[in-house]
Amino acid sequence: AATVIYDFNISWVTANPDGLSKRQVIGINNRWPPPKIDAQVGDRLIVNLLNSLGDEDTSLHFHGLFMNGSTHMDGSSMVTQCPIPPGASFTYNFTIDQPGTYWYHSHTQGQYPDGLRGPLIIHDPKTPFQYDEEIVLTVSDWYHDRMSVLQPHFLSKYNPTGAEPVPNSALMNDTQNLTVPMVPERTYLFRIVNMGAFAGQYVWIEDHNMTVVEMDGVYVHPKETTMIYLAAAQRCSFLLKARNETARNFAIIASMDRTLFDTIPPSLNPNVTSYLLYNTTAPLPSPNLLDTFTPLDDTHLRPRDNIGILPPPDQTITLNISMSNLASGANYAFFNNITYTPPLVPTLYTLLSSPNLTTTLHSTIYGTYTNPYLLPHNSIVQLILNNLDTGRHPFHLHGHTFQILHRSAPNAGPWSWSDNNSEYNHKSPMRRDTLSVEPNGNAVVRFKADNPGVWLFHCHVEWHMLSGLAVTFIEAPNILQRTLKVPDDHWAVCRGKDGGRSVP
Ligand code: C2O
Repeated sequence: AATVIYDFNISWVTANPDGLSKRQVIGINNRWPPPKIDAQVGDRLIVNLLNSLGDEDTSLHFHGLFMNGSTHMDGSSMVTQCPIPPGASFTYNFTIDQPGTYWYHSHTQGQYPDGLRGPLIIHDPKTPFQYDEEIVLTVSDWYHDRMSVLQPHFLSKYNPTGAEPVPNSALMNDTQNLTVPMVPERTYLFRIVNMGAFAGQYVWIEDHNMTVVEMDGVYVHPKETTMIYLAAAQRCSFLLKARNETARNFAIIASMDRTLFDTIPPSLNPNVTSYLLYNTTAPLPSPNLLDTFTPLDDTHLRPRDNIGILPPPDQTITLNISMSNLASGANYAFFNNITYTPPLVPTLYTLLSSPNLTTTLHSTIYGTYTNPYLLPHNSIVQLILNNLDTGRHPFHLHGHTFQILHRSAPNAGPWSWSDNNSEYNHKSPMRRDTLSVEPNGNAVVRFKADNPGVWLFHCHVEWHMLSGLAVTFIEAPNILQRTLKVPDDHWAVCRGKDGGRSVP
């Protein structure tokens, strides 16, 4: 295994990815889009970060990586680290034991939609399928305004319905002018990442089938489809055999999920089209755009490792999701009537310096506003997600994948055994790290708490993160207290935010 080192100097740069509006974006080493990170299973990844933003704190989260034994490298601001202030540096250093398609992004609230996000690919010397060439495609919604402009209005009494800002456009590989050269009859592995802040994306390729082989880092038994849906933060890879074609080109279309938007401005083009280029001199076809979509159901996929369903849960946590107005008149989001508010000291650091953790967990240490749940080591945890809201929410769990035991259709209401028993997935449930839950629908997921750490579970719509749709899982805290060593440069960026309790 190798040590892979990236030096990231984070600063504002100018970009105009949709050609409609030049704006300040957060770049890396004076460039935007941010680079792709490549590593191999077993490698150590080191990212030396320097914050040169001048006006904002920052952090990096490596979405989907388990961070086994290194929860303090998970990158969530005020959960596993202090945000990195302007002028400061910070090193992420961890080993990787999972192959697949991931991404990295700022985990400082409201920041990654300003551009601090990129693909992270973990290559597998033992990939269980054959292909000739790999192509990474990112899809993303895009805003013309900075988050510092959008955010104050979004969370104010002037937006009492909590209407999320509607993106101005969609991007593929951070542009709207992408062509992908094709060699006839070659087999390509496409890795697609939705790095968007809000919109799910339907993706299809004209006159080509996609054979899905991986989702969120989980290899699956190959499944052929004509369309996939990727909610914000989800990833998928599929094999595509190039046609025996030298005369024509074909459109790749990503279409934002418009059902998420409160209004659809007439100026909005929800689609972005790229092309499979078989012939550089032939015209690019006009894409056949759609209004109704029939994507592959991700819950019908089967993990290739055939692990089978986990044992019955030791703990079942029901999480009811709702939106409502606080006294300020602003609209907030709630799990069980609690809206997440970041603590003053990162939850992990509080935990490392608390002698009597378990007894005081729910009362004095954390307060109620981080919505903490204690998960004993190696216990089986089941989450029942009742989405009482009218929006579709992509829920993401840090540090794990979860088995999807059930996901209802839209408007099925809260989950109950009697309603859903027949659909309950008993055999070999699909696993992933981000699951899209339907409007007024429900889902049941299960995982094993085999990774000591402090892990967020949250909606990956960045607007809903800002409005508090998150809970904190505190997994095996006694093991963390005994074994975890947080390096000095992590404590150093706290500057008082460690509550004066820095662990020696
Ligand atoms: Cu993609 Cu909490 O993260």
